[in-house]
Amino acid sequence: MNSMKKLVVLTGAGISAESGLATFRGAGGLWEGYRLEDVATPEGWDRNPGLVLDFYNQRRKTALEAKPNKGHRILAELEKYFEVTIITQNVDNLHERAGSTNVIHLHGSLFEARSTIDETLVYPIKGWELKLGDCCEKGSQLRPNVVWFGEQVPNMEVALTHAMQADIFLIVGTSLQVHPAADLIYFVKSEIPKFIVDPDVPVVNGVDNLKSIAEKASTGLARLKPKLIQLA
Ligand code: APR
Repeated sequence: MNSMKKLVVLTGAGISAESGLATFRGAGGLWEGYRLEDVATPEGWDRNPGLVLDFYNQRRKTALEAKPNKGHRILAELEKYFEVTIITQNVDNLHERAGSTNVIHLHGSLFEARSTIDETLVYPIKGWELKLGDCCEKGSQLRPNVVWFGEQVPNMEVALTHAMQADIFLIVGTSLQVHPAADLIYFVKSEIPKFIVDPDVPVVNGVDNLKSIAEKASTGLARLKPKLIQLA
């Protein structure tokens, strides 16, 4: 029984846009409402942890109310034809709720809290709020278990390994502005077919066998699905 081919998918905020979750850049983006340095950096946390907790509480609340969209569902359906690995920059859990079974979160998860004195202490967040005074078992304030600018991306090693082994590589809904996530495509073998689905396709230089589909995730992936299945 020959093993299924590996489909590796890098996703960003754009795949959750049709679920009603704001992207970061572009009109109405999260970085228009908040200053990135205030809510997504260790310095911002040190200056005003309450503001940071509020920012992630709001995002957690909307993420809980959101539902996976057709784009998430198509990626989950492709597990019938491929060994699918989703490498996401998103901190929502819509891929998992759509049925994807192999999701790597490069930038952490809205639904986990982490100790501020022992990063191995990670706890699930029940409900939508993480508050000042919520402490780990060692008594230190809990923080969102997300990766802030300037922090290490612990799952990058694993993500690179998958990219290097991909038989097909797909990028959906990311502006490719943030590294090291944006560098993954350069670790995919040059002869491997690569696709980008995005209504405003980001420019990628120096990559072979790359096709762009300038459409939203739901319609672009619906169009791409039969082509991918032919490659299975
Ligand atoms: N379908 C597909 N793509 C879409 C859609 C849609 N319906 N709507 C918007 N997009 C695209 C945009 O054109 C853009 O290319 O999604 C991308 C969103 O880009 P960003 O807002 O920069 O989000 P992302 O690339 O995920 O940001 C990466 O930056 O702020 C940090 O940690 C944060 O994980 C985030 C990282």
